[in-house]
Amino acid sequence: MDLFSKLSLFRLPQTILTGPGTIAQLGREARLCGADKVLVVTDKVIRQTGLLEEVTDPLNESGIAFEILDGVTAEPPFELMERLAAEVSGYGHQLVVGIGGGSVLDSAKLLAVMAGNPGADLRSWVGTDKIERPGLPLILAPTTAGTGSEVTNIAVLTDHSDHVKKGIASRHLLASTAIVDSQLTRTMPPSVAAATGMDALVHAIESYTSLRASELTDGIALQAIKLISRSLRQAVLGGNNTAAREDMAMGSLLAGISMGNAGAGAVHALAYPLGGKFKVAHGVANSLLLSYVLRYNAVANLPKFAEVAKAMGEPVEGLSLRDAAFSAIEAAARLAADVGIPAGIADVGVGQADIPALAEEASKIDRLLNNNPRRLTLRDIEQIYRDAYAGRGASGS
Ligand SMILES: [Fe+2]
Repeated sequence: MDLFSKLSLFRLPQTILTGPGTIAQLGREARLCGADKVLVVTDKVIRQTGLLEEVTDPLNESGIAFEILDGVTAEPPFELMERLAAEVSGYGHQLVVGIGGGSVLDSAKLLAVMAGNPGADLRSWVGTDKIERPGLPLILAPTTAGTGSEVTNIAVLTDHSDHVKKGIASRHLLASTAIVDSQLTRTMPPSVAAATGMDALVHAIESYTSLRASELTDGIALQAIKLISRSLRQAVLGGNNTAAREDMAMGSLLAGISMGNAGAGAVHALAYPLGGKFKVAHGVANSLLLSYVLRYNAVANLPKFAEVAKAMGEPVEGLSLRDAAFSAIEAAARLAADVGIPAGIADVGVGQADIPALAEEASKIDRLLNNNPRRLTLRDIEQIYRDAYAGRGASGS
């Protein structure tokens, strides 16, 4: 056996603060990062909901000066990031704070690192470990429960030249501090809670069954699957359910830690082209494909998929290993349906004729496909899209 075949890497932000109300610690954390002038990165939705005050109040109380940049859009393109970096280049800030969903947090990460690498070509960073120097310290506070971006070393941008989402992964994208405060998720509309919550579930399942999974990530991923499976329905449908919101905030954080270290797999690889070409929200695209990819993957690691089913609350006692593993497929499909996400990709405007191009695009995403527990050929990928088109796959073996 190759000496390094069991080598695993585990990276985290320096500090992770969790619990309702922890955003009040922001001023103290900013001071500990050595900052007295801060750039706050957000979007117009967060400004309208009043959540921005959750960040500006503690900064004011600590006497820290700040500028607000609210120009981040959903699924940000490379050009936007270059424009925003130019806009803030004269601010003289020493720390970047991101408050928002995945697009905002990814943008905050990139703006922090761009400040430390003036003149660098953003496109040359696509891939892994291509960023030369560290950037400014970074504090991230998610307002959705799903992206996990606050604890990962990845930022995703949309490339308008080929309509494909491109990932930038680097140790320099890890936050100094992640503040995961479930109260910040209180303004999420149910559709966003559903999509981001399913994204978090996919992070947990894919990282647990990833070929890069390790003892360091397995327990974290399983706990994420448990928390999300038991509370997503209530968080989406149950109105102001604070306990469910706390479960989802913690589940999403754990799923992000696991995914950030063990990686995601084929669900994400097949979802990216749906996001790029059909503008399907990331969490919805993942959710649409989850049960179909599970159906393909389950046979490749029956014990682990049986554990997934168990963590999802399925009654696996007395079942054969195969039946237990396959019950995860039904469980995932039921959860997605209960929170209002369609069952197949035809529902989001994909035609059968689009499938070969989607499969071609997905087949290039080796960064994710290499983690998947079962090998995929181009034909396999096409077949999964066809199953997802026809709405087949949730019926087990
Ligand atoms: Fe994701």
